[in-house]
Parts: sequence; C-alpha cells; structure tokens
Amino acid sequence: MRTFATGVCVATTYRDTSGGRRHDAVTVNSLGSISLDPPLVSLSFRKESAFLADLLETGRWVVSILPADARDVARRFAGPRASRVSEIAFLRAKPGERTGALVLDGASWLECALAEKFDLGDHTLVVGEVLATGHDRHAPALVFVHGGYHAITDPRHVSGPGQWGEAL
Ligand SMILES: Cc1cc2nc3c(=O)[nH]c(=O)nc-3n(C[C@H](O)[C@H](O)[C@H](O)COP(=O)(O)O)c2cc1C
Repeated sequence: MRTFATGVCVATTYRDTSGGRRHDAVTVNSLGSISLDPPLVSLSFRKESAFLADLLETGRWVVSILPADARDVARRFAGPRASRVSEIAFLRAKPGERTGALVLDGASWLECALAEKFDLGDHTLVVGEVLATGHDRHAPALVFVHGGYHAITDPRHVSGPGQWGEAL
C-alpha cells in the first residue's frame, strides 16, 4: 500500500464531557467514495483508536481534504491523542454547521453522520452519510505515497504562498 498514492485528510469529531466539548483531529488517508445517491463516504480506523471511540459516540464527523500547503497540519495530527490535544488550539478551523465538528480553513470538506459501521480485521470501517460539502479554493493537492508528502500542482489552479505559510 506504500506505493498507492492517496490524498491526505484531517478527520475531526468531538466528545461532550462535563468540562465542555472536547474536539479531536487526526490525519487519515483511508477516505473512500462509496455512493452518490445517497451520498456516502467511508473511513477506516484501528479498532483501539481513541478518535474512533469519540466518533462512534457522537455519530458526527468532518473530513477536511488537505491542500498541499497544509502538509505541516497533516504531520501535527498524525500522532497519538496526547500530542494532538496540544495542537487543536492552534488549528485554523470552525465548527461545521451540520455536525459541530471542526472544518479546517482552506480545505475541501465533507460533514458526515454515521450510517453504518463494520468491524473488519483489526480495523473498523465507518460509513458516513454526507450532510454538507464545500471547498474554500482551488489549490494544489496534498498526496501521500512511499511514506512522504507531495504536492500535485494543476497549472489551471492559482498557486503561490498558501495560507498555511508554506511556499509551494
Ligand atoms: C498519511 C497518514 C494517514 C493515516 N491514515 C489513517 C487512517 O486512515 N486510519 C487510522 O486509524 N490512522 C491513520 N493514520 C494514523 C493516525 O494519524 C493516528 O496516528 C492514529 O489514528 C492515532 O490513533 P488514536 O486515535 O488512538 O490516537 C494515518 C497517519 C498518516 C501519517
């Protein structure tokens, strides 16, 4: 699978606790496009994932598809929860109108509600009905392959220093 190039996303969900709403965000590349009518997409998580536990509890999440200049964001949310929690406060994002989960600035995004869940091997596949979508701008895509991040630049799209501060 290292040779299979994928896009890179940050999935977000949250858990409501007595201390308030605790958001979480994690880097994922298992986004699958399942169905157009109804609109369904999937993600796959390790069964023990702390993020997955919150997602199943709320039944709501957002997938933000990252542009190339957000590779630093991808790195910051690819670790264990303890490291992600300290990064959430610096994430440029706002709650999605349909789910309340964070939508990242500058990304294309899908707001999802849990439709199905399948335990498969050591992972759980969650299928979400897409409640809302959007995109901020046309931007070079961020791609993950051979364990590294790459930018795919479409000459039809405007490029230049992105809002994440990284020159393309
Ligand atoms: C490019 C990339 C893609 C990833 N995709 C997934 C994924 O689809 N599913 C997953 O469970 N973890 C994925 N990970 C690992 C997560 O970012 C994270 O380390 C893990 O989910 C943390 O588990 P936790 O929820 O128990 O804290 C990916 C990491 C990278 C760098």
